Order: sequence, then C-alpha cells, then structure tokens
Amino acid sequence: MRWAVHASALFPLLHFFRPAGSAAIPRDDRCRETKVAILGAGVAGITAAQALSNASVTDFLIVERNDYIGGRVRHTQFGVNPKTKAPYTVEMGANWVQGLGSKGGPENPIWTLAKRYGLNNTFSNESSILTYDQNGYEDYTDVLGAYEKAYGVVEQDAGYILMGNLQDTSMRAGLSTAGWKPKKDMRMQAAEWWAWDLETAQTPEESGFLYGITGYNLTFYQFSEENNYVWDQRGYNAFVIGESQTFLSANDKRLLLNTTVKSLAYSDQGVTVKTQAGCIKADYAIATFSVGVLQNDAVTFDPPLPRWKREAIDQFQMGTYTKIFYQFNETFWDPNTQYFLYADPKVRGYYPVWQSLTGPGFLEGSNIIFVTLVGNEAYRVEQQPDEKTKDEGLAVLRSMFPDKRVPEPVTFYYPRWSFEE
Ligand SMILES: Cc1cc2nc3c(=O)[nH]c(=O)nc-3n(C[C@H](O)[C@H](O)[C@H](O)COP(=O)(O)OP(=O)(O)OC[C@H]3O[C@@H](n4cnc5c(N)ncnc54)[C@H](O)[C@@H]3O)c2cc1C
Ligand SMILES: *[C@@H]1O[C@H](CO)[C@@H](O)[C@H](O)[C@H]1NC(C)=O
Ligand SMILES: *[C@@H]1O[C@H](CO)[C@@H](O)[C@H](O)[C@H]1NC(C)=O
Ligand SMILES: *[C@@H]1O[C@H](CO)[C@@H](O)[C@H](O)[C@H]1NC(C)=O
Ligand SMILES: *[C@@H]1O[C@H](CO)[C@@H](O)[C@H](O)[C@H]1NC(C)=O
Ligand SMILES: *[C@@H]1O[C@H](CO)[C@@H](O)[C@H](O)[C@H]1NC(C)=O
Ligand SMILES: *[C@@H]1O[C@H](CO)[C@@H](O)[C@H](O)[C@H]1NC(C)=O
Repeated sequence: MRWAVHASALFPLLHFFRPAGSAAIPRDDRCRETKVAILGAGVAGITAAQALSNASVTDFLIVERNDYIGGRVRHTQFGVNPKTKAPYTVEMGANWVQGLGSKGGPENPIWTLAKRYGLNNTFSNESSILTYDQNGYEDYTDVLGAYEKAYGVVEQDAGYILMGNLQDTSMRAGLSTAGWKPKKDMRMQAAEWWAWDLETAQTPEESGFLYGITGYNLTFYQFSEENNYVWDQRGYNAFVIGESQTFLSANDKRLLLNTTVKSLAYSDQGVTVKTQAGCIKADYAIATFSVGVLQNDAVTFDPPLPRWKREAIDQFQMGTYTKIFYQFNETFWDPNTQYFLYADPKVRGYYPVWQSLTGPGFLEGSNIIFVTLVGNEAYRVEQQPDEKTKDEGLAVLRSMFPDKRVPEPVTFYYPRWSFEE
C-alpha cells in the first residue's frame, strides 16, 4: 500500500544524453531518425513526451517494450463479477494515490490526474484492521500503537541527522535507538512489517534511515497522510493513457510499442538506439528505465555510464512487491474490515497483510481478498509454481480463521515482477 517516495526504486532516474555539439550528424539510412528518443512509456516517459510537446518539440519517438502505456502502472483481468459475469480489473503494480494534499498546501500531481480522469478510488482506512496469529484472531492492535509511538521519536531523530548533516545509519538502528526492538516477538515483527516493509518493499535493515524518513515525510507531510486505493475498472493507467492522448493521436507513428531497446550508443554526434526490430538515430535520448533494468545491464550503454552515474544507480535497491489475488465463492472474513494482519510464528513477512476488496467502496460483493509479500518472500514465491503459493496462502487463511470453512479459491493469480526487472 503506502508506497511512499522512498530510497528504493521509486525515484525515476532519468538519464539525459545531451551531446555537446550536434551540428552535422552523419546519418545511417537504415535507422529511423528523430530529435528525441524517449525510452519507456511509463509515467516518466509519457510525461517527458508531454513536456516536449508543450515546448513545441514534436519530433520524438517513444520506444516501449510492452504492448501498453503505463509501465509499472499495470492491471489485469481477474475472476468474474458474480452479478454481471464480466471479469474484474485488478492492479498488478501501482494501486494507491499516496498522500492527496491539504487545503492551502501542495496537491499530489497524481491526485490531480486521478480526479481529472475520474478514477474510482476509496480511502484506505488503516484503522480498519484485525490482527491474527497462528491460533486465529488475537487483538494485538496495541502493538501497532506502540510502533507508531516509537516512530514519532524515529522521525525526529532522522530530522537531527538531516539538520546537523550527521552520519546516516539504517532504519533498524534508528528504530532500536528509539526503543523499538522486536527481536523474536512475532507480533512486533508483524506490526513493523505492516508499518514499514509494506510501504517500502524492504526491511528496516535494508533501508537507509535519513532518506527512508525523508521519503515518508515528503509524501505524507508535504501532501497528506491519506492513501486512496484505486479500483477503477478501466485500470489505474487510464490517467497515463488519458494524458498521452493530449499529444498523441490514435495510432500515432511516434509511439513504438512492442519494441525492446537492446543498446544505446552515444557520442557528441548523437545517440543510436538499437532495438530488437531495428534502430533509431536521435539527437537526444531520455531513458526512463527502472533501476532494475539499469543495475542488471539489460540495456548496454556504449560507452558505459560514467562511474558517478553507476554509483548513484547502485545506491538504490529494486524492491519486489507481489500482490497475490484470491477470489472465493463466498466471503468468510469480516466484509466490513479492510485489512487482516497475520503474525506467522516462524517467518517474518510470511503472508502478513491481507486486504479485502469485497467490502463497501471497493469491488463490492466480489469475494476477492489479496495478500501482499515483499522482499525475500516475494522473490521466493515468484520463483515457485502457482499451486504451491496458493496452498501456502490457504494454510495461513485456515489458521487465521480456524472456525470457518475456507474453500479452495475460484480464481487465483499473482504477477511476477521480479522476472521483468
Ligand atoms: C508492485 C508495485 C506496486 C506499486 N505501488 C504503488 C502505489 O501504490 N502507489 C504509487 O504511487 N506507486 C506505486 N508503485 C511505483 C510506481 O508504479 C512507479 O514508481 C512508477 O510507475 C514508475 O514510473 P516510471 O515511468 O518511472 O517507470 P516504469 O513504469 O517502469 O516505466 C519504464 C518503462 O520502460 C520500459 N522498458 C524497460 N526496459 C525497456 C527496454 N529495454 N526497452 C524498451 N522499454 C523498456 C518498461 O516496460 C516501462 O514501461 C508500485 C510499483 C510496483 C512495481
Ligand atoms: C503540458 O501542458 C498541459 C496544459 O497546460 C498541462 O496540463 C500539463 O501538465 C503540461 N505537461 C507537462 C509535463 O508539463
Ligand atoms: C476507519 O476504521 C475505523 C475502525 O473500523 C473506524 O472507527 C473509522 O470510523 C474509519 N474511518 C473512516 C474515515 O472511515
Ligand atoms: C520528518 O517530519 C517530522 C515531523 O514533522 C520532523 O520532526 C522530522 O524532523 C522530519 N524528518 C526528516 C528527516 O525530515
Ligand atoms: C465507478 O464507480 C461507479 C459507482 O460505483 C460505477 O458505476 C462505475 O461503473 C465505476 N466505473 C469504473 C470505470 O470503474
Ligand atoms: C504486440 O505483440 C503482441 C504479441 O506478439 C501482439 O499481440 C500485439 O498485437 C502487438 N501490439 C502492438 C501494438 O504491436
Ligand atoms: C463454496 O464452495 C464450497 C465448496 O468448495 C461449498 O461447500 C459452499 O457451499 C460454497 N458456498 C457458496 C456460497 O456457494
């Protein structure tokens, strides 16, 4: 859920290749020519193209590996609406508008766009949560409160580091100093996972203290602390497509879908982009690839990126965040509660946060619930067969609801982002 601007993979690292003087560019006539090659048609690529259009630069090409606009804002069809028999749309990637804005303060630009395109969304009520462990329902919401209290100290401590330009540390160290020490207390671990890992897709050990907190502050104190869950049946990317239509016409020749960039050669004379289908010669290129693509050398740069850029890329970690969807033939959980937190006795982050979509304001009556895994657990299940993951999740549900008959799901699905970079 609360996927704040954070020291992980979420800052779009835009790489501008700006040759110094590009007067007489020798052209290879096998290549398509353009002024600006925009690599990627996610939010960053589409926004870059719109900015160029606004500045009357219309000679550009947008090159995208996928066959859709939106990148990590991506949905799929899942299950079936018992009333209409039509499939539901669920989000595989971005799902929340995080931090809306406040009166007189800045508004989150994503919120502005969500409103512009009338995206159906509902306030995610983090107080609407029930807590469980391996023996079923156990009220340990006081532990969530204790984390919040410690966090109040933690964010101030990070503020001292910022203001004093002091040595940074890990979020784990910051939490410990504030007196929050979950150790083997699995309820504390679950509370911490809910408040931290679910947001950042990484553990406190993996998270930088200063920029972990700065990212949170930037999102939730600059805008507001509300997170709204987008359940629009057009898909969350309706806003990205909508914005693209402000400058692209239907079947616009400047949008190249299904086109994978293989390599990028750049010099003072321009940029040559090689794709699986051919090549493009441009005066400039804007690369919007994720940190994962850049770290894994999925695209070759010639010459290699300078050390200062590679160092910046390596400072980030690509989070893995996996939503696992179950549709049942009935709702055996409380339909009026949004979140169900599970503390596994052995493994931290094992099927920890279940979120119901069947309740008021969401996909009402859908009998859909999904569980989110991040980090190592996400990576683990993405590597195993669906059947195994389905059964692991069902076993957890059965220990959470020991007095209910938890049937086999009617439909089951999860994306595997870690295979896509
Ligand atoms: C599971 C998940 C949940 C998330 N939840 C939220 C949320 O709730 N709220 C929120 O605000 N944010 C969330 N995010 C983050 C948000 O989705 C991203 O920050 C945002 O979509 C990134 O946009 P971008 O344009 O920078 O990158 P991308 O969307 O990754 O765009 C880059 C594009 O480049 C393309 N590309 C990559 N390699 C190549 C290649 N070799 N050739 C051609 N094209 C290529 C990709 O296909 C992609 O379309 C989530 C992300 C994920 C993965
Ligand atoms: C382009 O201009 C439109 C209309 O003024 C505006 O809504 C949009 O935000 C601008 N886009 C960018 C990326 O600046
Ligand atoms: C959030 O849920 C709590 C607990 O169910 C409830 O008391 C509160 O009114 C809800 N808040 C909103 C804004 O719906
Ligand atoms: C984050 O916000 C809190 C509350 O306003 C503030 O005390 C703290 O200094 C901020 N921390 C950082 C790192 O900006
Ligand atoms: C948005 O919500 C309204 C009211 O529930 C519903 O009638 C409409 O079909 C929804 N539209 C989309 C695109 O999800
Ligand atoms: C992209 O490729 C897929 C699979 O080959 C194909 O079904 C689809 O029509 C293509 N889309 C575009 C826009 O080229
Ligand atoms: C759901 O399926 C189970 C068997 O898998 C069945 O016992 C139960 O009656 C079904 N519930 C409804 C509402 O049909």
